[in-house]
Amino acid sequence: MTVTTDRVPAKVNRELSVGPVRDDGYHDLVNVFHAVSLFDEVTATPAEQLHVSVDGPVTVPTGPDNLAARAALLLARHAGVRPAVALHIRKDIPVAGGMAGGSADAAAALVACDALWGSGADLETLLELAAQLGSDVPFALLGGMAVGLGRGERLTTVEVAGEFHWVFGYADGGLSTPAVYAECDRLRAVSSRALRWPRVSDDLMAALQTGDAVGLGQALDNALQPAALSLRPALKDALAAGRDLGALGSIVSGSGLMCVFLAASEPDAARLAASLAGTTLFAAVRQASGPVPGAALV
Ligand code: C5P
Repeated sequence: MTVTTDRVPAKVNRELSVGPVRDDGYHDLVNVFHAVSLFDEVTATPAEQLHVSVDGPVTVPTGPDNLAARAALLLARHAGVRPAVALHIRKDIPVAGGMAGGSADAAAALVACDALWGSGADLETLLELAAQLGSDVPFALLGGMAVGLGRGERLTTVEVAGEFHWVFGYADGGLSTPAVYAECDRLRAVSSRALRWPRVSDDLMAALQTGDAVGLGQALDNALQPAALSLRPALKDALAAGRDLGALGSIVSGSGLMCVFLAASEPDAARLAASLAGTTLFAAVRQASGPVPGAALV
């Protein structure tokens, strides 16, 4: 019996620049994605019918809305095969944190089912299918570092010097992505500041290309952060606490809820993670480094 397993990383945003709302309800973005070493694993096994199960430290619903199930259905339709597969997700990426764990599972399911069914979809086809599933799914296929344009799905890979070390703190609950974008629009409507067209900052690119963690810490920027802080004011103290404990920079990941802290080195990240875990600010604290590759068969 053929079984294929695919491992896929979480993402954080190093810079997220958001334009005005479009006619289709989405916002044009410049989204600097970075894949980090927290992984989910998706195993695809032949079965009578599509079935999803989940285990691991984190759990998610397994019904038809599960993004991995939708990925399997989409690929089956594209390849003209029956979606006769059992998907087992070993879940380690925190949920509802702005780390695109659901998108990661969808990307992993595409790659695993493609291998299981021998459908032979090339990367371009997989990226197209991924974009139909969600704005962050194409990046989960590629991994590494990339700039995403449009909804975030039109990707250009970025070369990075060295490795960066991160600590993640996540609180209980979640923030709904559409609600955070709507709050961003609301705050902008009442602000007198002119809206800048989304762009990548030169300082961020320079820091990435020279492996300059101090420069990167100063250049981290997320246009959705004011909206996330407005909906969840406690995040402000959480971000400040990390900086007080020695982080080079702190940012909310994507539409939240995750707080992301940059450390100068792996030992510094371990110390920062231990200090943050000793506060009452977060339900859980994790440590990871990146960039790492995207969905890959193991
Ligand atoms: O594409 P995805 O399903 O991940 O997007 C979830 C929601 O986030 C969208 O329905 C939309 O409200 C918001 N969004 C947006 N602009 C983007 C990406 C997402 O407004 N570029």
